[in-house]
Amino acid sequence: MNLSSSQRVLSGMRPTGALHLGHLHGVLKNWVKLQYEHRCFFFVADWHALTTLYDDTSKISPSVWEMLIDWLAVGINPSESTLFIQSKVPEHAELHLLLSMSTPLSWLERIPTYKDQQQKLKDKDLSTYGFLGYPLLQSADILIYKAGLVPVGEDQVAHVEITREVARRFNYIYGREKNFEKKALDAAKKMGKKNKKLYQELRKRYQEQGDDEALETARALVESQQNINLGDKKRLLGYLDGDTKIILPEPDSLLTPMSKMPGIDGQKMSKSYNNTIALREPPSSVEQKIRTMPTDPARVRRTDPGDPKKCPVWDFHKIYSDDDTRTWVQNGCKSADIGCIECKQPVIEGVLAELKPIQERAQQYIEDPDALRSIMNEGCENARAVARETLDEVRQAMGLVYR
Ligand code: TRP
Ligand code: SF4
Repeated sequence: MNLSSSQRVLSGMRPTGALHLGHLHGVLKNWVKLQYEHRCFFFVADWHALTTLYDDTSKISPSVWEMLIDWLAVGINPSESTLFIQSKVPEHAELHLLLSMSTPLSWLERIPTYKDQQQKLKDKDLSTYGFLGYPLLQSADILIYKAGLVPVGEDQVAHVEITREVARRFNYIYGREKNFEKKALDAAKKMGKKNKKLYQELRKRYQEQGDDEALETARALVESQQNINLGDKKRLLGYLDGDTKIILPEPDSLLTPMSKMPGIDGQKMSKSYNNTIALREPPSSVEQKIRTMPTDPARVRRTDPGDPKKCPVWDFHKIYSDDDTRTWVQNGCKSADIGCIECKQPVIEGVLAELKPIQERAQQYIEDPDALRSIMNEGCENARAVARETLDEVRQAMGLVYR
């Protein structure tokens, strides 16, 4: 296992109901791949949904199940990834609360999505405590699993960034003993004058010049000391690469490659544009939607030549067709040898072929809701076990242990 594959991956989605081809070709295929490379945690962020849907919660739970069925149907494998529902792991909420104590309001207020979303959802009162805390709840989601990599789209990068700041601040405040530096220097004295001087030189070389060899030498020096106790040894080692203990590691975002899947109108595929093909769209409806897709407006009559570059159907060919078919489209379109209905036929077949196994797998879970429930219960339990470990360390660092 190399360093990066040893990192945990965590990502979440708000429950928006049934997913579509845009999700498949963006987020989901990426998740399916990642689950074979990392320990992955994928969850449905139902609490995040509440930040904007607090006044009508009726659609949240059905959407959660719809989404989970789609995840499983596209090949997120519950024996490779831990799948769970956020609110079934209440540890996220405790960490959120604890982090909220030390997070400056201004950090949350300056995040672009805060004002943007308030603007966008104008008819909803989003001047709430929960909505302001959205990114901090997300930080808790990430930090409680000590995730190293967070696959997200461009719009979520700022949330991973604030997570790093929150973690850094937490470690700075709670990851240090009182008088750490003085204690470390006192411990250094116990190594004798010569060794103390060498230790300080090596530390300086590492900290100022990033000299890894100096760090190694200094560590070996500390380890070789006979007459200092374990606590002092730990202090001396800790002081070498900083003076804070990392309780919550800082995650990196892993930018999800942009989906090349356009909607049936050529815009980005999105529910709000009403231009989607759902993963569980019935075949007749898939056919109907593609048949009625707009094409190059220059092709008014069948005999008018067109240009695939100006046609959304061509973008589908780029995803679903092989080279031969694409050449056939290019030539046939420009010379008006083929009609648009003809041209769309291979796309229809391509989409149907892609959806068939997905829909079959979805059907199994629809027919056996108990199997779905039990996969989820197991995922939630596994997630909780990991979350509890982190929370224990956090409580301890904050001095919230009562025994
Ligand atoms: N805010 C994310 C979105 O809207 C969903 C989310 C919640 C998330 N918690 C997360 C994503 C933690 C990654 C990590 O897409
Ligand atoms: Fe589009 Fe194909 Fe019609 Fe050309 S022939 S305009 S590529 S649908």
